[in-house]
Amino acid sequence: MTNSVAPLDLPEPFVITLGNLKGGVGKTTSAFFLASYFAQIHRLRVLVIDADPLSQTGYSWHRRLIKGDIAVPFELIAFPSRHVGDCITDNAKSFDVIIVDAGGESAEIFKAAIPLSDELILLTSVSPSEVKRVPSTYRAAEEAAAGSDRQIRVRVLMTKVPVTMKKGVNVSTEYRTQRGNLEDAGYEVFASYLSGWKWYREAADGEVGDGAENPIEDLGEYRQVGDELVSPYRIAVEVSA
Ligand SMILES: Nc1ncnc2c1ncn2[C@@H]1O[C@H](COP(=O)(O)OP(=O)(O)O)[C@@H](O)[C@H]1O
Ligand SMILES: [Mg+2]
Repeated sequence: MTNSVAPLDLPEPFVITLGNLKGGVGKTTSAFFLASYFAQIHRLRVLVIDADPLSQTGYSWHRRLIKGDIAVPFELIAFPSRHVGDCITDNAKSFDVIIVDAGGESAEIFKAAIPLSDELILLTSVSPSEVKRVPSTYRAAEEAAAGSDRQIRVRVLMTKVPVTMKKGVNVSTEYRTQRGNLEDAGYEVFASYLSGWKWYREAADGEVGDGAENPIEDLGEYRQVGDELVSPYRIAVEVSA
């Protein structure tokens, strides 16, 4: 028998901030699916902090799931404040993983989460206007991290990616161009990405129980993204012959 889920050596707690100072890039969607990933695959206690001051997407989505009698495998706190750091600190003992959905509007809230984070995931679609926001968001994070002695790892995750497969390779020009631009600029870009799938939108929009039984149980491509996210933290398992 093999256990495909290798043990992890994560910081306690493992704090991930999802950002891009722009709306609509998939922050809330990614927060929910990655929260589900950690809860389902690694059986960890997960908190999502919805720190978006303008949108209640996360809060409403979570409420809808719970009301629809879904066993939501993570907790959510709405805390759209520049004191979001306090919320992280106050919950650090009760959760293994804390995912901060920093919203897209407030650089102040975003920057407040950074000094307490282990990982920053910068999300962007292939749209040039969103890709253009990556460097400014990165600089904001750099400023915020300046005073902290903690190491933060920054990676870019591409969302809503158009897919044209040829011989197992995505040859979409927009995708390849923007990935190339990001890599040339020196960003570490996740090899895995989220396709532009209507299914992700339905997971968030769908009325629970009305066709979408448990919209976050099926992790879709987030299974792979999650595995890649934790790969630097995997404990090497000795294989003896
Ligand atoms: N990979 C994807 N493919 C298609 N639609 C997506 C994808 N990710 C998110 N969406 C949809 O795009 C919209 C914005 O996503 P959301 O996660 O709310 O972004 P943000 O939190 O950054 O504003 C939502 O309608 C969401 O369902
Ligand atoms: Mg959002």
